[in-house]
Amino acid sequence: MKVDVLLGMQWGDEGKGKIVDVLTPKYDIIARFQGGPNAGHTLEFDGQKFVLHTIPSGIFHSGKMNLVGNGVVIDPVIFQKEIDNLVAQNVPYTERLLISRKAHLILPTHRLLDAASEAAKGKDKIGSTLKGIGPTYMDKTGRNGLRIGDLEAPDFKDRYNALKEKHIQMLDRMDFAYDGLEEMEKVWMETAQNIRKIPFTDSEYYINNALKNGKRILAEGAQGSLLDIEFGSYPFVTSSNTICAGACTGLGIAPNKIGDVYGIFKAYCTRVGSGPFPTELEDEVGQKLRDIGHEYGATTGRPRRCGWLDMVALNYAVMLNGVTKLIMTKADVLSDFSNIEVCTSYSMDDKSTTELPFDHADPRIKTNYTAQPGWMTELNANEALPKELEDYIDFIEKETECPISIVSLGPDRTQTMVRDLQLA
Ligand code: GDP
Ligand code: IMO
Ligand code: MG
Repeated sequence: MKVDVLLGMQWGDEGKGKIVDVLTPKYDIIARFQGGPNAGHTLEFDGQKFVLHTIPSGIFHSGKMNLVGNGVVIDPVIFQKEIDNLVAQNVPYTERLLISRKAHLILPTHRLLDAASEAAKGKDKIGSTLKGIGPTYMDKTGRNGLRIGDLEAPDFKDRYNALKEKHIQMLDRMDFAYDGLEEMEKVWMETAQNIRKIPFTDSEYYINNALKNGKRILAEGAQGSLLDIEFGSYPFVTSSNTICAGACTGLGIAPNKIGDVYGIFKAYCTRVGSGPFPTELEDEVGQKLRDIGHEYGATTGRPRRCGWLDMVALNYAVMLNGVTKLIMTKADVLSDFSNIEVCTSYSMDDKSTTELPFDHADPRIKTNYTAQPGWMTELNANEALPKELEDYIDFIEKETECPISIVSLGPDRTQTMVRDLQLA
């Protein structure tokens, strides 16, 4: 068996949560491999809406296991809130959830350091979700971090205090004022102990044994390829490998165990936070996309920046991830646009290119568009797609040399058009 991977092709919020939920019947295990509570994955079904941050999006299906992999960073306080929401829905989470012992812990002081770092950057701030992601991954690579498995150690509190002291010294050096740390810590300690109700696992063995035993596994990405620490629009990125390779390191699976790679993208583009966005529309067209698409962050509520689809960026993401199947979401949002633009190349100093330049924020980048006629009709998953939308899909398939296997026509589980995929 192989592990299939689903990940974002753009700057996050492509609809990963919805599509993982739709694909879950096909799998036995859903595994998150990177990121943390900076993610906000929305699922809608039976008239209800749920937002998950750390817990994999297969959690609402009975008989499926959901693994929080070693590459994920966990804030126990946020995790507990997610659990509380599941309890309110009578979801038997202890039967469906596993956490890797090697996943790193986000401490209250990591969140303070995130805020201090952003404050120090001033107008150049990343636009972080302020969940402590950057500082936690820094402690991981700096070999100082605390992991879920450490919660089981008798000297955990001492190790926590040693790391906290280090952080406090850093905050003092940064001259960053804060209060309420003691209260934050109290809640953190309680929730960190509570997490121990969920089985901890040496997840690299769990996953590889599951593969040997014929289990079907879907790895669920967070963020998007253009926020990848290596290949995103650095420094306006997150602090983990969001691309397919991150599934190998974030779960302990070998590259030759990767099966299908589902690349999910919106029929247009959005970005939340700072950083380059060549096709951004800072006009009434962008506002219309934001209004119709309800483009406000699932984690922070911030308005998302909106713009046309960028094929240069999409092809880059297809290349980096070895995408085998594309999934297009939010086609319905374009139903009210008579003219749809797609960026097919950039120009720099009058030279056209279809490759992303080293500096995606280079002010010389100009975007070249081709216009596609809109379909100007409501979409329905039980009816054939309008010709103009089929043409839009054909166009993207030709440009990317990759099939579009699913088209999402609305936020609900049922608003999904499956083109060439078995769902179970
Ligand atoms: P994720 O982070 O990739 O899981 O995406 P988010 O949940 O942050 O943002 C996607 C938003 O679009 C959510 O509010 C979803 O409910 C919604 N959504 C997903 N697919 C579609 C779709 O095809 N059409 C519309 N209109 N909304 C969608
Ligand atoms: P999902 O999984 C959209 C963005 C932040 C910021 C940058 C760095 O829901 O698609 P961080 O908190 O990681 O230090 O922020 O990355 N960002 C996201 N944008 N969707 C996400 O996750 C994001 N996670 C982080 O807005 O620009
Ligand atoms: Mg999101």
